[in-house]
Amino acid sequence: MNIVITGASDGIGASAARQLKALGHNVILVGRNREKTARIAKELDAPYHLADYARLSDVARLAEELNGYERIDVLANNVGGMLSDRILTEDGNEQTFQVNVLGAFLLTNLLMDKLSSSRAKVIQTSSIAANLFSKEFDIDDLQNERGISPIHTYGNTKLCNVLFTRELNRRYGDKISAVAFEPGIVRSNFASESSPFFKIAYHSFLKYLFTISPERSAKRLVRLVTEPFECGEVYGNGKKYKIRLQDDGSLAASLWERCERLTERFVK
Ligand SMILES: NC(=O)c1ccc[n+]([C@@H]2O[C@H](COP(=O)([O-])OP(=O)(O)OC[C@H]3O[C@@H](n4cnc5c(N)ncnc54)[C@H](OP(=O)(O)O)[C@@H]3O)[C@@H](O)[C@H]2O)c1
Repeated sequence: MNIVITGASDGIGASAARQLKALGHNVILVGRNREKTARIAKELDAPYHLADYARLSDVARLAEELNGYERIDVLANNVGGMLSDRILTEDGNEQTFQVNVLGAFLLTNLLMDKLSSSRAKVIQTSSIAANLFSKEFDIDDLQNERGISPIHTYGNTKLCNVLFTRELNRRYGDKISAVAFEPGIVRSNFASESSPFFKIAYHSFLKYLFTISPERSAKRLVRLVTEPFECGEVYGNGKKYKIRLQDDGSLAASLWERCERLTERFVK
């Protein structure tokens, strides 16, 4: 199988790439940092591509490159992170929303013909934060103009990953299989671009409590690649994970339409 993993330069993505390569699959790595990504690519003898999701033109170019592969059997949309402040990208979007949500939305849509003809699995890395920190989710404020805290902003984007998965399944479920993934709380490089307070709290304390290694978390992602699942659902540790937010589908549809408007200039 040809398996594209984004956010493959570190943490869960890099671990999943190692495990999938060991199972005999062709892994195609996507990273932001050339040195880090090239290092993993060399280790795995795998091709790699670069894109900074804070620039949507990078994501569009990435899609062009990935469309050059004969087939894509799995797309693991795993890029994600939490920032300290509300920063606008050059595209004019709140950066956490763009990196965690819009980037994967654009990439998946630009690859849709290839994914459809390959009958691909499309996996979104969500988070327990979708339940814990998304309490102030407001579909009318995806750009966080209210200025809610970074952790709530992060939680909202991880909730968006689930809504995107559901709507992806509703629109394209006859051609592709969409699912979301809850990795656990993982001792990775996560939050390295967050506020000094959260970064210190996470890396010196929180991440050693109740956490699992990236390798262990990646096994959960690998299971979604190798085993069947119920489309449109979220899985964590081999089981379905329940997202608290009630949605009759209108929120998911609304998110899709808004993402479509924000990325339309990249879609021919
Ligand atoms: N760690 C946790 O406890 C946890 C829990 C739940 C969910 N998650 C989710 O799991 C996923 C992977 O995170 P991780 O824990 O493995 O953290 P990580 O070690 O920091 O890896 C994150 C990956 O995303 C890439 N990335 C970050 N910002 C990017 C950007 N602007 N453009 C392109 N790539 C970018 C990173 O690239 P660089 O190497 O260049 O930084 C890296 O490859 C994320 O979606 C995260 O939200 C993590």
